[in-house]
Order: sequence, then C-alpha cells, then structure tokens
Amino acid sequence: ATADRGDAPDFTAKEIDEQPAAARRLLDGLLGRLADGRLLTDLGLARPDRVRLVACGTSRHAAEVVARVLAVEGGVPSRVVTASEADLAVPEPGTLTMALSQSGETADVLAALDRWDDPVLALTNAPRSSLARRADAVLGLGCGPEIGVAATKTFTAQVIAGVAVALAIASASGRLAPARLAALEQVLDGLPARLAASAALAAAPAAALADELADRPGAVFVSRGAGVPYAQEGALKLEELAYRWVEALPAGELKHGPIALLGPGTPVVVVGAEPRERLAVGIAEVTARGARTVLVGSGEDADLPVCLPAEEPPWGPLEAAVALQLFAREVTVRLGHEVDRPRNLAKSVTVE
Ligand code: AGP
Repeated sequence: ATADRGDAPDFTAKEIDEQPAAARRLLDGLLGRLADGRLLTDLGLARPDRVRLVACGTSRHAAEVVARVLAVEGGVPSRVVTASEADLAVPEPGTLTMALSQSGETADVLAALDRWDDPVLALTNAPRSSLARRADAVLGLGCGPEIGVAATKTFTAQVIAGVAVALAIASASGRLAPARLAALEQVLDGLPARLAASAALAAAPAAALADELADRPGAVFVSRGAGVPYAQEGALKLEELAYRWVEALPAGELKHGPIALLGPGTPVVVVGAEPRERLAVGIAEVTARGARTVLVGSGEDADLPVCLPAEEPPWGPLEAAVALQLFAREVTVRLGHEVDRPRNLAKSVTVE
C-alpha cells in the first residue's frame, strides 16, 4: 500500500492531488456529447420530465449542485432525496432517478431505490457495484481507487458527471440554447487547469490557517446560492477528518439563530459565491462579533485563494472544494489524527 501512495504522505493527499487529472479524463469522455441530450441517448435513457437525486453524505452535496444546474439551465424540476429519508418521497410520473454513490454499495441508497419504478441512472466510481447492477444505466466516474475514507476526487467527479447529465437534459428539453451550452462546455473544459491552479494557490495558506485554527473547537461554514453545497462539503470534511463540530448554512440564515454561536476567534469559513456583494452583509455581521473570517475565493482579499472562472457558472465554485479539502487535511495532520481512516467511519456504509 505504501508504494501505491508514491511520494504522498497519505492516500487522501494523493487523491486530492489527482483531481485535475481525474476531471480531465472524465470531461474528455463527456464534452461534445451534451447537445440535444446525446449523452442520454448513449446511456439508453429518455429525456425525463423531472429528476430525483438520491444520495448520502458527500454524494448528496454533489446532488444539490446537479439539482441547481437542472433548475437554472433547463427549468427541470428535481428533488434531492437523502437516501435514508426516502420513505417521505412520493412517486411522480416521468421521473429519472439519479443515484449518486462513489462506492455503489451504500445500503441507504440501494434500499431507497426499491421505493420507485422509474429508470435509474447510477453515477458511481464502482462500475461493478451493487448499485451499478441495479441501475438501468451507469455513468462511471473513472477516478481510480479512492482509499481515503473522506471522499475527495470522487466528489469533484460526481459534480462534473452530474452537471454533464443535467446539461444534456436541459439541452434535450430545448431550454438550453446551443450557444449557452457551448459557452458552458468551454468553462467545464477549463476546469482541470483551474483545479490544479487552485490546489497550488491554496496549499501554503491552508497549512498556515491550520497552524492558526487547528485548536479551535468548531467552525461555521457559510455561502450563498450555488456555493452552499461546497460550504456543506467543506464542513463535512473538517468534521469527519478533524472531529470538529461544524455548522454549515446559507449566510442569510446566520442571523436567524446560529450567529449566537459566534464569539471572538470563532472560525467562519466563507465560501465565495458571486456576486460578492451578496455575501457582504453576512461577512460584516461575522466580523462585528470578532469572529475569524476565512474567505475562500478568487479575490485578492481571499484567505484561501482559488482560481475561479470570471463569471460564476451554474454549478458554482467547485474549485473551492479542493482548498477546503486541503484545509481539513492540514488541520487533521496537526491534531495527529489518522487522515485516511477517521474513527467511527467506513469507506462504504453497507448498513441502513
Ligand atoms: C464522505 O467523505 C463520507 N465518507 C460519506 O459522507 C460518504 O460520502 C457517504 O457515506 C456516501 O458514500 P457513497 O458515495 O459511497 O454512497
């Protein structure tokens, strides 16, 4: 196993590092197949009227991103179903169920699928998994093995694959104009380079921030709009790897209660979302309480700098995920916890 890690100190570090290459491979197989929903045809699927996204944990954060792209670009109604809560989701005709699971063995996801008869598209890194066998169509993530219990490269890959499916559905529905699709494909095409640049930009600041903040007992993660799932994902990484209490929420919700948590020095990680002014009020509220604001974004004032496209795409600041993974890992190392195998967790959760 040591040999597989190469020079990396742990598998999580290696897998964080592999994201630009994994994104490139995936995009090379997807770009050019989105117009008129060709990707759906290739997968043997009809254009759905609506989409149900079923997932848990990190995969559920990717599902939230996909739901937003379906709405923004295609006006396609969708619902994100937390797999363990699937008994609350009613059947709706014309639905495509997208099941997102890197392992393809998550029991909650497999059990949820028993509730509906709709066609199932699996987004998984395990093309021979139980989920892949159960699904009507499979879109493989092709990331290679992910050994670290914390999902890293499979998260970015799920977002990319899910966004591609969402754009294909939007295009097939006639709502997404060819010129807009072409522009979005170009932004996607530049993603691997931006992921690599973000990792390079954020590495040293993530280490310095970890030096400063590792001993704080908890942190609050906020964002707005398309950035919210990334705030949630950054929070989950810190929680599961560093065993810190976290709160992740839309910035506008702070004033409705969670702001009471903030005191001098409380870390508040603000995941950049555009337009920046939409976060200004939240940041002012936080700094007024003496909290330690950690801005993740592409501006010059960023504490964790990343490389974002000039205009925010409908899938939001995916590049920020890399910086947040690096930060969570650095904190974990400083606390002396095992990065690849956090306590109480398994890579595949095969019990309901
Ligand atoms: C991610 O870092 C976690 N280990 C966990 O939330 C995970 O995403 C969840 O258990 C779902 O796993 P899956 O993608 O294999 O279904």
